[in-house]
Amino acid sequence: MLKSHSCGELNRKHIGNQVTLAGWVDRRRDHGGLIFIDLRDREGVVQVVFNPETSAKSCQLANGMRNEYVVRVSGQVAPRPPGTENPRLATGEIEVIAHSTEILNKSKTPPFYINEEVEVDESLRFKYRYLDLRRNRMKANLILRHRVVKFIRDFLDKKGFIEVETPVLIKSTPEGARDYLVPSRLQPGKFYALPQSPQQLKQLLMVAGVEKYFQIARCFRDEDTRADRQPEFTQLDIEMSFAEEEDIINLMEELFVSMVRAVKPEIKVQKPFPRIAYAEAMARFGTDKPDLRFGLEIKDLSDIVTQSEFAVFRNALAEGGRVKGICAPGCAGYSRGQLEELNRLARENGAEGLVTIALGTSGGSLGKLTMDEVKSVAAKYLRLDQIKQIAECLSANAGDLLLIVAGKTKVVDNVLGELRQEMGYRLKLADPAQLVFAFITDFPLFAWGEEVGRWEPMHHPFTAPKEADVPLLDSAPEKARSRHYDLVCNGCEIAGGSIRIHNSRLQRKVFRLLGYTDEEVEERFGHLLKAFDYGAPPHGGIAPGLDRVVMLLAGEETIREVIAFPKNQGAADLTFDAPATVSEEQLTELHLRLRDE
Ligand code: AMO
Repeated sequence: MLKSHSCGELNRKHIGNQVTLAGWVDRRRDHGGLIFIDLRDREGVVQVVFNPETSAKSCQLANGMRNEYVVRVSGQVAPRPPGTENPRLATGEIEVIAHSTEILNKSKTPPFYINEEVEVDESLRFKYRYLDLRRNRMKANLILRHRVVKFIRDFLDKKGFIEVETPVLIKSTPEGARDYLVPSRLQPGKFYALPQSPQQLKQLLMVAGVEKYFQIARCFRDEDTRADRQPEFTQLDIEMSFAEEEDIINLMEELFVSMVRAVKPEIKVQKPFPRIAYAEAMARFGTDKPDLRFGLEIKDLSDIVTQSEFAVFRNALAEGGRVKGICAPGCAGYSRGQLEELNRLARENGAEGLVTIALGTSGGSLGKLTMDEVKSVAAKYLRLDQIKQIAECLSANAGDLLLIVAGKTKVVDNVLGELRQEMGYRLKLADPAQLVFAFITDFPLFAWGEEVGRWEPMHHPFTAPKEADVPLLDSAPEKARSRHYDLVCNGCEIAGGSIRIHNSRLQRKVFRLLGYTDEEVEERFGHLLKAFDYGAPPHGGIAPGLDRVVMLLAGEETIREVIAFPKNQGAADLTFDAPATVSEEQLTELHLRLRDE
């Protein structure tokens, strides 16, 4: 090795040692005669002192060093002179007195600061990702991700799981997104599809008798990129034979709690994870991935306002809709501008409008509230006792702001879910040092696809219905509940999984309900159905999104921050400038011709 120690590991114990270091110039300071270089490598930064009296040649070289030059320094570790220690630096009690120096490589001036935590345009960061990753925050995220993966592998190995790699060139796997296709050179006109997840492969491994499988698996989905979505991402894919819901749920609880305690002990986490039925989650939080670090629960006000004169409420109820609300504590003094912002958010999410009721500007009990203190467009249509009833239902006090939405249940829940999240964020109700996990259960098996005009799987078509609900597949498929569970945390869906169908008859029946013809079923899923006829064991599994897990642990807001080379919003890799055009020869080999658009 070109170095004997890493920069960040040096401390008082090394005083007097001769060391050789190699790394990047983080900062250079010239103190008229003495030159100070902060030398950085992956483990940290140490101060190197170049003194013309110790080594004139080294000092001359140091004089020409610039930020990000790659240098090698040999010297002696010495205590810093009293009063010059830096308590903010792990190596702040010592410095290295350079005896000999070598410049291993020069660097152009980087397009952004590497040694400072400043906001940099994301496109620039992605274009020079190798420089971006040199920055402390990114480096810490990469290391955290490594620790998480290492923890997972050790944990699952101890539990008897084996990691099996599955192919990336396969056939279309329905997980609800568009496939990435790869043309075949050897079979003209045919295509591989990159797996949206290894779902069918892990089920085949169960038929193969693997019993406990896992894989840190790359998945590919051609869907719009978002803060927590990338076209290619990583799952911790898990499948177990002879398992029931409890087994998977308990395994996940133990894995996540012990992982957080091992890799981020400063984060608060609690077991057992609450379990919330899908319908209850929608009713209380307006979403199936609630942030449970705060309350602000949605309450149904329909029964209270059914007698009101307010047309907005009356019409919604008459059309079979609901009137629901949440309470924003202490927000009665919101300005018109602030209220308009909330109104816009409600409309953007499908509401026709948002009814706000400000309950006086000073705090105190509701008992003394008078109509003069109530500010709302609905005030002239509601009696004081009705307003108080609404406020009581929402556990509000004087000084609070009530946010009420009327309309179709689905829209009302969704809008209030978004408003709840927004208010939780604005009022800083969510503790950033806490991870609150929960399992969402009892999902419906199917959802009606408005656009396609037929049933679609709520998750994927391999999910088993609850035993008791199997007869409903013939009579009322919309009522059938599935054996699916989602793991959510801090408002983010971390994982989805289920007990699977392992019997070809039931699987065929589900495919038929989903509108596949017998030929399509054979063509697309024949391999799986055939396998089920050779002694498929009952099995189930789950797949946490690794990027989302690391994002939450790192306290980041997008998964792009925890992926070494992410795609941008347009699904492009800016470091490589991919996707890119290919040569005519390559297209010809693949039997492809581009259409003139
Ligand atoms: P699902 O489609 O719910 O289930 O995916 C499981 C988890 O993967 C993560 N995830 C994503 N992360 C980043 N970018 C994306 N585009 C993306 N899509 C999904 C989420 C999600 O919870 N085969 C099933 C799992 C199973 O049934 O065992 C599946 O893939 O964290």
